[in-house]
Amino acid sequence: MQNHKAKLRCAIIGTGFWANYQIAAWLEIPGVQIVALYDRTKKKAEEVNEKFRLNATVYDDYSTLLKIENIDFVDIITDVDSHEMFTIMAAEKGLDVVCQKPMAANLEQADNMVATCKNAGVKFFIHENFRWQAPIRKLKNALDAGVIGKPFKARVSYCSAFPVFDNQSFLAMLDRFILMDIGSHVLDICRFLFGEFSSLYCLTQTVNPVIRGEDVANVLMKTTSGMHCYAEMSYASILEKEAFPQTLALIEGEKGSLHLTNDFELKVITRSGVIVSEIINPKMYNWLDPAYAVVHSSIVDCNVDILNGLRGGFCETTGADNLKTVDLVWKSYESAAAAKKITI
Ligand SMILES: NC(=O)c1ccc[n+]([C@@H]2O[C@H](COP(=O)([O-])OP(=O)(O)OC[C@H]3O[C@@H](n4cnc5c(N)ncnc54)[C@H](O)[C@@H]3O)[C@@H](O)[C@H]2O)c1
Repeated sequence: MQNHKAKLRCAIIGTGFWANYQIAAWLEIPGVQIVALYDRTKKKAEEVNEKFRLNATVYDDYSTLLKIENIDFVDIITDVDSHEMFTIMAAEKGLDVVCQKPMAANLEQADNMVATCKNAGVKFFIHENFRWQAPIRKLKNALDAGVIGKPFKARVSYCSAFPVFDNQSFLAMLDRFILMDIGSHVLDICRFLFGEFSSLYCLTQTVNPVIRGEDVANVLMKTTSGMHCYAEMSYASILEKEAFPQTLALIEGEKGSLHLTNDFELKVITRSGVIVSEIINPKMYNWLDPAYAVVHSSIVDCNVDILNGLRGGFCETTGADNLKTVDLVWKSYESAAAAKKITI
């Protein structure tokens, strides 16, 4: 059903680090009004309310917010462990739900979230923004244009020595780290570029001695059409050129290759050599951190797509779609634990 209201009324659930970018991105597009904010630490919600001059009502009790506020959807930006609970409570009230990646702490919870929203007749979207990065969209366009013919193999890389644990020390305490955190993005990019996968084999490692979870994961996948895709991610890679937070890719096809390399350079290579070399810069906004521009900028495009979905149109990153990404993450853990190939 189409929703033609001039502005959809939104409550932001969780006002920590990432909410600051998500709210700024909502404010870039017409059609959404943030009318309520919730955080268990009320002061954080009050600070965000003031910072963005939202004039929203601030809550430290979610049930009260759901009871009092006249809203169209909630945007959940809390820790992964609470995503299921907040989604289900909103769905039971008949509200549409937008939820940050990773969808849930495990596959069972993710299944439950998708099923509950479906049964309640509410729309459910995952805010998965990496596939909306400008260089990734351009790469997909070039792939679909057929310049390199049918692709037979690809490498998608997110490898860096960025000291991620310095800023977010809690990441060092997680039993499962890089596949959940970055794998959610990288494996989703692989699905976006190449379609669905039929099998995978994964190896993980913990290189940094002071962390609990894995900081290196290598996933070798086969698409349903037989193409090979190698997704590599690492926070232990000391390389000639630090790429953080870029996702790089090399796609090989029967007529040539597409190379998305450092600093957003996209090269089209055929037997004649490099026939195109283009720099795909992300769109800049005054609120984004220039060091993270490619990531922050993609939030706006992701939100535009989700708003289209909330209004009853098409959206790429529905809960049902993202469940396939969550499945890849968990099948990767299963493969790494059993040291065997997993059929999807
Ligand atoms: N798309 C991206 O690129 C990206 C980047 C960073 C974070 N994220 C996602 O955003 C989400 C939040 O991450 P963050 O970095 O902002 O974390 P954060 O810890 O900085 O903020 C989370 C906020 O939620 C509140 N909160 C958590 N659990 C709660 C609960 N049970 N009840 C009430 N309030 C609660 C906390 O008080 C905090 O203010 C995560 O799902 C994370 O994966 C996405």
